[in-house]
Amino acid sequence: MARPEARFICQQCGQVSRTWTGRCSGCGEWNTLVEARQTSSRSKRSGAPAQVPRPTPLREIEAAELERLETRIAELDRVLGGGLVPGSLVLLGGSPGIGKSTLTGMALANLAAAGRRVLYVSGEESAAQVRLRAERLGNAALSVPVLAESALEPILASLESERPDACVVDSIQTVHCAEMTSAPGSVGQVREAAAALAEVAKRRDVALVLVGHVTKDGSLAGPRVLEHVVDCVLRFEGERERTYRTLRAVKNRFGATNEVGVFEMRAGGLTEVADPSARFVEEATRAPGSVVLAAMEGSRPVLVEVQALVARSELEAPRRVSTGIDRNRLSMILAVLGRHARLSLAGADVFVNVAGGVRLEEPGADLAVAMAVASAARREPLTTAEGQPLACFGELGLTGELRHVAHPERRVAEARKFGLEPVVGPAAGEALDGLAGHAGLRSALRAAFGAEAEPESGGALRPAA
Ligand code: TYD
Ligand code: MG
Repeated sequence: MARPEARFICQQCGQVSRTWTGRCSGCGEWNTLVEARQTSSRSKRSGAPAQVPRPTPLREIEAAELERLETRIAELDRVLGGGLVPGSLVLLGGSPGIGKSTLTGMALANLAAAGRRVLYVSGEESAAQVRLRAERLGNAALSVPVLAESALEPILASLESERPDACVVDSIQTVHCAEMTSAPGSVGQVREAAAALAEVAKRRDVALVLVGHVTKDGSLAGPRVLEHVVDCVLRFEGERERTYRTLRAVKNRFGATNEVGVFEMRAGGLTEVADPSARFVEEATRAPGSVVLAAMEGSRPVLVEVQALVARSELEAPRRVSTGIDRNRLSMILAVLGRHARLSLAGADVFVNVAGGVRLEEPGADLAVAMAVASAARREPLTTAEGQPLACFGELGLTGELRHVAHPERRVAEARKFGLEPVVGPAAGEALDGLAGHAGLRSALRAAFGAEAEPESGGALRPAA
């Protein structure tokens, strides 16, 4: 059979062309041409009009209670909203080496052990490589059937014949469609492959997990083309060299998007960290520059250590380096510290790090960062009267006020559970046992360091010893 002629469509203006060009001849935009598959059996517009469909009131539509395939990896099930939904599509994104193949392999192993039919499609690694990983994961992982294949058509055919309950395609970027001329991993290929796989998954009620690589800037390769197609987008994050990895849902049609699972990579695969607070508090250093943040990860409170280092800078433009929090947020916090707490860091390099490789994306982390930086600049540790690390939370406003953030009661309760009392936080909102509320950054710092320690001018940074 002759290969159908290629067709490229500009994603900007819709212009169709027969060859790929870097620039669209229609609108002049660069890199907007995407290959589209020829569909020969287009329904003809002419002839008798098709039957007119009738909309149904939602009340009359039957919606069966969603059955879930529990992977029995509790952190994964929680993030998914209770397990995999048959007929749904999950996109699991993460940078190379983070543990995507390990996590999906473990999930399939558990499902197989529970008597489910599973299939692991590997386009990236050979069957032998997949087996080597499975050996590390234990006996159950060895019973997962694997198909080392990267061509779309055979994968579709085997989905149809195997009819698994759950299937993992690792990774979607390696799957290519023979009818298209563009390279595997290109936008057109990835989109075509995902759409074809989704169609079979929906029709056959397969819970399909597509593994996707993430590019350097953090987006899923193939400019987010897949995020619209799938029901659930999971992001697996963490620094490769660090122990902790977090799994969060960016989009979830069958559950909340604010849940976070915490994992640790060990010799026998990923282990769940069910009580991350205990680990982080235990590891907190209680040294100058260290503060415990009562954070929220979805609906779960977590205590994490925020560390700062302030050092005299040799550079014209001092360095501001942050790991685990947004750099712009750090700049804002330093500006607020300078303006409203009279802590000038103009001549100093500032490093802020969230311990354990955790990423914080909530404004409630502001106060902890500010306190850690202040403590580092003054070289004074921040501890409670009992010598426990100081716990805090709260958002900083540009006028130096301390703003209310979600779930103060859960944050305080979590800190109290570990004896970190009182917790420094915003005064706004209801009064809570164990919460030392402050209206602004200045009063919070004054209480933490003692009023007499308040610097008179921008000289808070002590000279290097
Ligand atoms: P992998 O799941 O292959 O990552 P990805 O599919 O996201 O690219 O594994 C990531 C790393 O984890 C790999 O470098 C080896 C390590 N690892 C362990 O430390 N312990 C284990 O039991 C396994 C299976 C992997
Ligand atoms: Mg992999």
